[in-house]
Amino acid sequence: MDRIVISGGSPLYGSIDIDGMKNAALPVIFATVLVGDRCEIHNLPSVSDIKGAIEIIRELGAVVEKIDEHTVVIDTTDMKVSPANSEIAKKMRASYYLLGAELGRFGKAFVSFPGGCDFGVRPIDQHIKGFLRLGAKVEIENGNIIAEAPDGLTAGNVFFDIVSVGATVNTILAAVLADGQTIIENAAREPHIVDLSNFLNMCGADIKGAGTDTIRIRGVESLHGCNYTIIPDMIEAGTYMVAVSAACGDVTLCNIIPKHMESVTAKLEEMGVTVIENDDSIRIIRTPDQKLNPCNIKTMPYPGFPTDMQPQFGALLCYANGAGRINEAVWENRFKYIDELKRMGADITVNGRIATVNGFGSLKAASVRACDLRGGAAMVIAALAAEGITSIEDVHLIERGYDNIVGKLIGLGAQIKKVVIESPEPF
Ligand code: EPZ
Repeated sequence: MDRIVISGGSPLYGSIDIDGMKNAALPVIFATVLVGDRCEIHNLPSVSDIKGAIEIIRELGAVVEKIDEHTVVIDTTDMKVSPANSEIAKKMRASYYLLGAELGRFGKAFVSFPGGCDFGVRPIDQHIKGFLRLGAKVEIENGNIIAEAPDGLTAGNVFFDIVSVGATVNTILAAVLADGQTIIENAAREPHIVDLSNFLNMCGADIKGAGTDTIRIRGVESLHGCNYTIIPDMIEAGTYMVAVSAACGDVTLCNIIPKHMESVTAKLEEMGVTVIENDDSIRIIRTPDQKLNPCNIKTMPYPGFPTDMQPQFGALLCYANGAGRINEAVWENRFKYIDELKRMGADITVNGRIATVNGFGSLKAASVRACDLRGGAAMVIAALAAEGITSIEDVHLIERGYDNIVGKLIGLGAQIKKVVIESPEPF
């Protein structure tokens, strides 16, 4: 129900800290179920998806102690296997990581078919393929996925048909305690796969090759707890890089890994934005008299251009001068935000997975909504540079993945506020 209101046209100046990466923290939180011990996790982003993941494992019997806004201690020692079918589990796509974690630890898992952002069909055939190759039986009944390996899992070779972050995570989780060596080919190479593997290795797992397309997992007898710090969020960082590029200004983003930003940095430089990399920070500069060039992007698995930055670039391309083409090659339907940009005067045509953005350097304020997490971020970016006052509905979708986006942008000089809409009083 809440709304963000932005008066566009203020350049952004200053510096902000980037939080821990949501999509790395989610698998690590569910992996604590596999560990079966006490883990202290640092640098968690304070976003609703992470709070939801913690709530799901708490409901299943994990003992969770919040140390501060970004640190929790999770003790899964006394957890028993039980169905994950609460309303939160049904809404959150990452709840399917419980399949790999519970199957690996208990030889059994029961999870409701997952929800999440709606980008068209979101199959899980590759996850199931991984479990079957490790000797599990998988059934789908009444909207639930039931995986079982009564005699334990045994290592196997898994060659994925497509590159999938989720299927790679789930197969790693299932293989860590399986008997023998599992080899995953055509694995996802995202930094979050490396982060999960580093976490599990600190807990005693034997995973090699994470970050390449071949991951080797030698099964170990047991795991133990550890202290772990989640990597910085490359998508949050990329979103602010694009925001500064649209609104103009000079901003330094701190606590990031510049290597993870390379595909985004390359596109911004092609558009004429100045990007200066340091060891663990990036500075973005665009002066108000600097015109933006259009560019073409095609989304791909890492290290290609991330689909999770596609909507933000869709908004930015509206402020370029000329036509830019977006090819969304990962998700079947991730262009819903474009109808909202059109309310602001954008000239964009969509043909299947290709969107052509005819940028003419400006957009006008309008009343719009966040269609999903990154689509919502795109609307914030569009509004920061637009003429007039834009109001964005369905802010809870943005808050799934951005910690304090309003506060951070206020700190950079944006004219932005969140309007909390009270629920209507019952009669
Ligand atoms: C993860 O989703 C991210 N979510 C998504 O980020 C991100 O867009 C996506 O990876 C791609 O980078 C989390 O990490 C929680 P996939 P995931 O399995 O794992 C097809 C955000 O904005 N596929 O890599 O669900 C699938 O349909 C979110 O933070 C199959 O065909 O994505 C898609 O076309 C949204 N069969 C492609 O693979 C399968 O079994 C990539 O999906 C699995 C996937």
